[in-house]
Amino acid sequence: MNMKKSTFHIFFTACLVFAGCSPVPDSEIERRVDQMLSQMTIEEKIGQMNQLSYDAGGPQLEDAIRDGRVGSLLNVVDPAVLNGLQNIAVEESRLGIPLVIGRDVIHGFRTIFPIPIGQAATFDPELVRQGAAVAAREARSVGVHWTFAPMLDISRDQRWGRLAEGFGEDPVLGARMGAAMVRGYQGDDMSAPTSIAACVKHFVAYGAAEGGRDYNSTNVPPHLMRNLYLIPFEAAIEAGAATLMTSFNDNDGIPGTGNKALVRDMLRDEWGWDGMVVSDWASVTEMIAHGFAADPKEAAMKAANAGVDMEMVSGAYLEHLPSLIAEGLVPMEYIDNSVRNVLRLKLRLGLFDNPYVDTSAPSALLAPEHLAAARRTAVESAVLLKNDGVLPLDAARVKTVAVVGPMADAPHDQLGTWIFDGEKTTTATPLAALREMYGGQIDIIHETGTEYSRDRSTAGIASAVAAARRADVTVAFVGEEAILSGEAHSLANPGLQGAQKELVARLAQTGRPLVLVVMAGRPLTIGDEVEGSNAVLYSFHPGTMGGPALAELLFGEASPSGRLPMTFAREAGQIPVYYNHNNTGRPYQGNETMIDDIPLEAGQTSLGNTSYYLDAGPEPLFPFGYGLTYTTFEYSNLVLSGEEMTMNGSLEVAATLTNTGKREATEVVQLYVRDVSGSLARPVKELKDFRRVTLGAGASERVVFTLRPEELAFYGIDGVRRAEPGAFRLWVGPDSASGLETSFTLR
Ligand code: NOJ
Repeated sequence: MNMKKSTFHIFFTACLVFAGCSPVPDSEIERRVDQMLSQMTIEEKIGQMNQLSYDAGGPQLEDAIRDGRVGSLLNVVDPAVLNGLQNIAVEESRLGIPLVIGRDVIHGFRTIFPIPIGQAATFDPELVRQGAAVAAREARSVGVHWTFAPMLDISRDQRWGRLAEGFGEDPVLGARMGAAMVRGYQGDDMSAPTSIAACVKHFVAYGAAEGGRDYNSTNVPPHLMRNLYLIPFEAAIEAGAATLMTSFNDNDGIPGTGNKALVRDMLRDEWGWDGMVVSDWASVTEMIAHGFAADPKEAAMKAANAGVDMEMVSGAYLEHLPSLIAEGLVPMEYIDNSVRNVLRLKLRLGLFDNPYVDTSAPSALLAPEHLAAARRTAVESAVLLKNDGVLPLDAARVKTVAVVGPMADAPHDQLGTWIFDGEKTTTATPLAALREMYGGQIDIIHETGTEYSRDRSTAGIASAVAAARRADVTVAFVGEEAILSGEAHSLANPGLQGAQKELVARLAQTGRPLVLVVMAGRPLTIGDEVEGSNAVLYSFHPGTMGGPALAELLFGEASPSGRLPMTFAREAGQIPVYYNHNNTGRPYQGNETMIDDIPLEAGQTSLGNTSYYLDAGPEPLFPFGYGLTYTTFEYSNLVLSGEEMTMNGSLEVAATLTNTGKREATEVVQLYVRDVSGSLARPVKELKDFRRVTLGAGASERVVFTLRPEELAFYGIDGVRRAEPGAFRLWVGPDSASGLETSFTLR
């Protein structure tokens, strides 16, 4: 029978007739999934589990779709081409099952938002949700149904290039941002013409790659996996994430794509998740290079048995699942479940009802409200790391500004990594924005200093220095080109590249006021540059609207409100350095002897020894959560609603925040806890909550958090998640290294 005449297509007709029909109820989706499944051949089922890349499809692609051998495509965004291919799937394949179209829409589609690590710095999940909604609207308008985002890989290593795509080192921040992004992409109804399916990735612990080298092995033990790396995934799945991608890394010898214990046993059986699991690009057959499978057939077997529903591009499912099923090496039940997961996704996306993209609709790309959202996110993502008072610049008093550095006018590079559909022609650079917004009042001298971030030539430095000498203030835009971060772009030395260090040093030597704006895909080791400058604004890669956002901040039309989502190491040798570490039995005291103070021929002793580096100490350059504003905030009167919390109770945590400066600004009030003793050693601090609070000059607000035992829970020695009774320390403050402190007991 031709399924095109069957119930799910009749339902589609009914939907068209009764305009405004609501999203299909779950029970109806399951009924339709089962009905379709009952009519599919084994080959058609396996076809649904196969994803191809459009550019690698070649002339056989159309035939493969017609024959039901393709369930999904990625890397095609031309609406006319998409409609043509979809038409083959819907009208010419036996069952008429539509294709689901995937794309890496990581931080915007055409309107590019700050890279995710920058978005994390906003500490503003609602803004992140809005950004994802903008990206979804733009992507779906050209026919994309499914993004491979958010990336929820916690990273404690600033050498790892892919940290740009994630939310940093903290599980609570990662969980909130991840859940917000999922909600933004998917909206209330994934079948809406403004929604796309999210894909949480990379499952799991990919960000713990040894040495920060991409694709590298990880060795995350079970407790740490549950208590850190899995937390953002649980939250995003709870928020309704429709799909999940397995990771490239092997953890303790098991590649993510072959990890049955984590995918089938935990994600499916324990968490009861009914979404769809896709492999990463060729990560099924890469299990051969891992030494985990002898050939593509064994790789397909291990991936399918682990619970990977769809194989991205490597084709081993298509070729080998038929014989694996026939030989009883992959149970038919697993195949049916995988196909159910794929069909459920397509139904939830409304693809059976609306398989085509409407090419007559007005363009949603770069809509003014999208650009405004991107600009606001860029404003909120910038972190002020230092300011001796030079910022904000006063447009009425500054006469000449020298704008220098390779990132001042780098329209491609400020967009950051993974911007397949962003266009540099639509980027507003800082130089262009400063000229447009202040060029009428202020003389702007532009010198690049170095042409691009890796440029080793020092030829342009003298002109930049000369410009600095002529100007009242120099704003140096330094950092990294987009291609120095992202997939497979790890750095052993994550500092300023090329001749930029020399450029900054020479500018500093002029003694003229120097403001650094750092645009980068990761935290950079910029201790010397911070030392040599009067102010430092860290903007990560700020996206399409980075220029006007930074201009607003530099001239004080907005006050910086970003906070660091990762600890900044002083130097690469300190990595990994992160705030929520365990304490060791010999914690650093702060009065340790540094290398130059050790007497000659000092005798070896272990007395008084602590955990630190002789040459760098243990302290980072900047702690997690850190960031300044153009005002000052004071914390006072930290009060808990009681000295004890019971297992089914809660505690109110209240502190007064006062803006003691002269301008309105936003503070990110942060609540940290330390579980003093547990069945496992507990981190020295853990972020439990945060709130952005905007106060005018002189204003005060009582900031109240509610803390529950649930937030204190962790997987203990017995593998059970619960809060353990005992003493807790608690801080409310501006970052992970300071704040008011009190304590309570959990009974
Ligand atoms: C490989 C990357 O690891 C993954 O994040 C991405 O979504 C896929 N390629 C598809 O482009």
